[in-house]
Amino acid sequence: MDGKHILLIVGGGIAAHKALELVRALRRGGDRVTPVLTAGGAHFVTALALGALAGAKVHTELFDLDDEAEMGHIELSRSADLIVVCPATANLIARMANGHADDLATTLLLATDTPVLAVPAMNVRMWAHPAVIHNVATLRSQGVTVLDPDVGLMACGDYGPGRLPEVHAIMAAVAAQWGDARLTGRHVIVTAGPTHEPIDPVRFLGNRSSGKQGFAIAAALAGLGARVTLVAGPVALPTPPGCTRVDVGTARDMAASVETALPADAAVMVAAVADWGVIPAPAKLKKAHGAPVIELIANPDILAVVAAAGPRRPTLVVGFAAETEDAVANAVAKRIGKGADWIVANDVSGDVMGSDANTVHLVTADGVEDWPRLAKAEVARRLATRIAAALTAAT
Ligand code: CTP
Repeated sequence: MDGKHILLIVGGGIAAHKALELVRALRRGGDRVTPVLTAGGAHFVTALALGALAGAKVHTELFDLDDEAEMGHIELSRSADLIVVCPATANLIARMANGHADDLATTLLLATDTPVLAVPAMNVRMWAHPAVIHNVATLRSQGVTVLDPDVGLMACGDYGPGRLPEVHAIMAAVAAQWGDARLTGRHVIVTAGPTHEPIDPVRFLGNRSSGKQGFAIAAALAGLGARVTLVAGPVALPTPPGCTRVDVGTARDMAASVETALPADAAVMVAAVADWGVIPAPAKLKKAHGAPVIELIANPDILAVVAAAGPRRPTLVVGFAAETEDAVANAVAKRIGKGADWIVANDVSGDVMGSDANTVHLVTADGVEDWPRLAKAEVARRLATRIAAALTAAT
């Protein structure tokens, strides 16, 4: 999606601040963004912030002499490769569906034949209201791509569908608009998140992996057209569009699900797999019985097993190495020790776990590439692009 021009209409909802993250992600991917801020949107983000991140003039007024002299609104609406409405509020969706042209945003949308991607965010009950359901159906019948909102806790305290989808999911939907389908026909297995090793029916050994990086990679691969099996440890993240999710608990469950999902063209093992499991006590351990002695038993190394799977070995096997010191040296050793083709070395000494950014080094047989600190979604897109290139080169 190099050098595309996106007209981004920012509607008036609490999710408008996430449009700023979207601008960042689009620009990192090489796209040009022209923002249009509605009157409602301006209650939540400033034109200054939006313009600074976009590196472009923010358009707000329908009847603006200067704007009309520079570029009329009809031309503005047609100069883009894609119009993204984010967040698409219930009000904006209603006005779009009914052909209103009472402000710059709706007028642009009416005056264009450019593809439109609407990213809704609103209260749970609004999303479920028959009027909104009707308007969304109308928009879809008009050819507008309307994403489904995420399910989760809303800013107002309600729980359910209505949250703005994660930026990586929006980016995947944008990529899908370009018909960027370099991985069509390919199957990729991605593991993500932590594993939980039960000690007794109520306790487990776990780790701090959030699953965000693995889910972002699964989304990016699906965005390039791959069939993705996402084997996920216990995390509450929404399933990225286009991925088949298999939820697992323990490392052994994860190993079994990966084995079942083979064969695959590529395997990307992002999960933070517990190296040791426990034979769980059948009943809750009681304090009165004193401190328990917990015997740890080695878990299978899923990455090493997949890399040694003989004829079922994927063409490309990629591991991650979460390290708190000597990240690159350890990753170089892990690549060889586990028989992986690539290791993405991940320095987790700072605030990486649970955060949205990551600093990684790509270790291959050819050497080490240092990537700058990037949003996890951008790490995912770059890696997906590299995987697509490697699979194309291999066949
Ligand atoms: N991995 C795996 N199965 C395991 C342990 C790790 O598939 N039982 C995979 C991870 O998904 C990751 C890679 O191996 O892709 C490296 O994981 P990491 O935890 O960094 O390495 P370990 O082998 O556990 O080594 P150590 O914890 O000693 O650094």
